[in-house]
Amino acid sequence: MPAIAVVGAQWGDEAKGHVIDLLAEHASLVVRCQGGPNAGHTVVTPRGTFRLHLVPCGALRPGVRSVIGHGVVVDPFGLLEELDTLAAAGVEPTSLLLSERAHLIMPYHRRLDLLEERARGEAAIGTTGRGIGPAYADKASRTGLRVCDALSPTGRKELQRAARRARRLIGSFDAAAGAPDTPDADPGEDIDRYIEALERLRPYVGDALTVVHDALDRGETVLLEGAQAALLDLDAGAYPFVTSSCTLVAGALAGAGIPPSALKGTIGVYKAYPTRVGAGPFPSEMDFETGNTVREIGHEYGATTGRPRRCGWFDAVTARYSARLNGYSALALTHLDVFDGFPTLRLCTGYRLRGDVIHRVPPLAADLAACEPIYEDLSGWRRPTAAARRGEDLPDAARAFIARVEELVGVPVALVTVGPERDEAIHLRPLL
Ligand code: IMP
Repeated sequence: MPAIAVVGAQWGDEAKGHVIDLLAEHASLVVRCQGGPNAGHTVVTPRGTFRLHLVPCGALRPGVRSVIGHGVVVDPFGLLEELDTLAAAGVEPTSLLLSERAHLIMPYHRRLDLLEERARGEAAIGTTGRGIGPAYADKASRTGLRVCDALSPTGRKELQRAARRARRLIGSFDAAAGAPDTPDADPGEDIDRYIEALERLRPYVGDALTVVHDALDRGETVLLEGAQAALLDLDAGAYPFVTSSCTLVAGALAGAGIPPSALKGTIGVYKAYPTRVGAGPFPSEMDFETGNTVREIGHEYGATTGRPRRCGWFDAVTARYSARLNGYSALALTHLDVFDGFPTLRLCTGYRLRGDVIHRVPPLAADLAACEPIYEDLSGWRRPTAAARRGEDLPDAARAFIARVEELVGVPVALVTVGPERDEAIHLRPLL
C-alpha cells in the first residue's frame, strides 16, 4: 500500500508543486490533504505555468486522478475559477474528485479573516485573507458546513442558518470598530450564488475515501500533497504566526483519511534558502540587501497574494526540527541555482538566546524573535548550475553545500532542482 507524502519542511513556498509534479509521473492518484486556497503550488509544464490553489498538482499529468481530500477547506468560487483557468489552457481535470466531507469556506469566512486581522492591529499574522482560519474554526466548533451538507436537501436552510450566525459575529466586530458596515447585500442572493457554484461542482463531488482506499488496496502509488509547511503547523509551528491546519505528515494522513501503515515514505521539501510570507519571527532572515537580491533572482513573490517573501539563510535548527516532526525518508532541495552568483553562503547552525546557545525552536514567539543566528560560512560556486542534470555536473562547492545540509538535517538529499522546468532536476537517489 504505497502512499508517499510530500510536505513543506520550512515556512512554505519550498516549490512543493515542482516536486509533486515530478513524482506524479509515477503515481496513479494525487491527494491534496489540508489547507485551502491559501496555498499556491506552481507547476511549470510544456503547456504553460500553472498556479494551483486547490486543484492537486497531479491534474497536470494525463491519466493521474486528483482528489481534494476531506482535510481541505474549499472555496467553491475559487475552485471553479481555477477549473475555468485550467480549461482555458486546455487542461480538463475530468478525473478530479472533491471529497463530500470537505468543509466549505463561505464568503463570510473571508470577511471574518480580514476583520480578525484588523482587530489584531500590530500583532496581525499576515494571513492570506482567504478565510482559512475562520473556516477551520467553524469546523472545530462543529458549526461548519461540509460539501455534502450544503448539497443535501436541507442545504439551503443550513446555509441560511450559518449566514445568520455569521452576520451576528461580523456585527460584533463592526460595533467594536465603531463603524457599522455590515454587508447590505441581500444575503438570500449570496446564498443563491453560492448554491449555484456548488451545483456546478456537484459532478466532481464524491466518496474520496473509498477511491483512495481502493487505490491503496490495488497497490497503486498515491501521492499525498501537503500544503504550507512545518513551521506554519498549528501545533508545532511558530504559534500564533501559523496557519490553521496540521501541515505535518500526520495532517496529510488525516486529511486524506488513510492510516500511517499505508505510508511508504515522506519527502521533505526544503528550499536552499527558506522564505516566509506574513508576519512572525524568522531567525535566519537575510539582511535587507541580500534578501532583495535573492528575492529578485528567485522571483520570491507569493503565488497566492503576490506579497514579497522574506528571504533567509538555510536554518538547520528549524530544518532538523521539521525532520524530527515528519521523519523524512528523503529530502528535495530546491532553487539551488539561485545561489549561483554568490561568493559565500551562510548556514545557521544554532541560536544564541539571552547568552545561551540553543538548538531548539522555543515556543514563545518573542523568544524565537530574540534568537540570534549562529552562522557557518561556506564558499559559493559562482558558476551556472541550470544545465546540470547529474550530481557530477554540479560544482564541488554546490556538492559541499548539499552534503552539509544532509549532515545537519540527518537525511539524504534525493532530488535537487536548478530551475523551475520539469527537466531542471537532478536525481541523486531514488525518491520513491
Ligand atoms: P492563513 O493560512 O491564510 O491563515 O495564513 C496564516 C499564515 O500562514 C500567514 O503567515 C500566511 O502568510 C502563511 N501561509 C498560509 N499559506 C501559505 C502558503 O501556502 N505558503 C506560505 N505561507 C503561507
